Amino acid sequence: MQVTYYGHSCFGITLQGARILFDPFISPNKLASAVRVDDISADFILISHGHEDHMADAVSIAGRTGATIIGAFELTSWMEKQGVSSVHPMNIGGQKMFPFGKVKMVNAVHSSTLPDGTPAGPAAGFLIQTPEITFYYAGDTALHYDMKLLGKHYKVDLAFLPVGDNFTMGAEDAVIASRYIKCDRIVGMHYDTFGYITINHDEARKHFENEDKTLYLLPIGETTNF
Ligand code: NI
Ligand code: MN
Repeated sequence: MQVTYYGHSCFGITLQGARILFDPFISPNKLASAVRVDDISADFILISHGHEDHMADAVSIAGRTGATIIGAFELTSWMEKQGVSSVHPMNIGGQKMFPFGKVKMVNAVHSSTLPDGTPAGPAAGFLIQTPEITFYYAGDTALHYDMKLLGKHYKVDLAFLPVGDNFTMGAEDAVIASRYIKCDRIVGMHYDTFGYITINHDEARKHFENEDKTLYLLPIGETTNF
């Protein structure tokens, strides 16, 4: 699986021949100013919740690429009202097979309101199962005990977890989360973008190294193979 980091919680993933974009927030992100939003291709855009720092570029990218937006029912209904032509609504606990693999919408402990104040339904994470890899994209969330279900019922090869603290869990809780989901390879997200969530990279990595786990803090704009 090829993973390109676009900053904050936004990743472009090439998987089973499909281009999947998570939580597009690029053009307002100063740290991602070198990323050319108009060059990003997408077949599917997965959105964890309605906060602007997870969907700012979703409508424009969906409009240009024709990508299908996958998210909570209330969120995709709002996207349709903004002119997005292809959406797939889901809700917590449901799973659906897509051309690239099976998507399960899972619990996140967070809030979810769109920039105009419209409630966007529940905040969510995603478990993606494919023949190639199984991975968990947590979205914005606190550490919570439902994560144990992922470790109990699935073999999670890679997990995208927030590590910025303040609005979500920080690195120490993310280590506990990685224990719950039984995953040793963690891609950090939701850090450094704003002053509230600036982290010390070495300290964050150390928390994981202490438990023989690896925290990847990917350079923005670069592509990594997992
Ligand atoms: Ni949020
Ligand atoms: Mn956020």
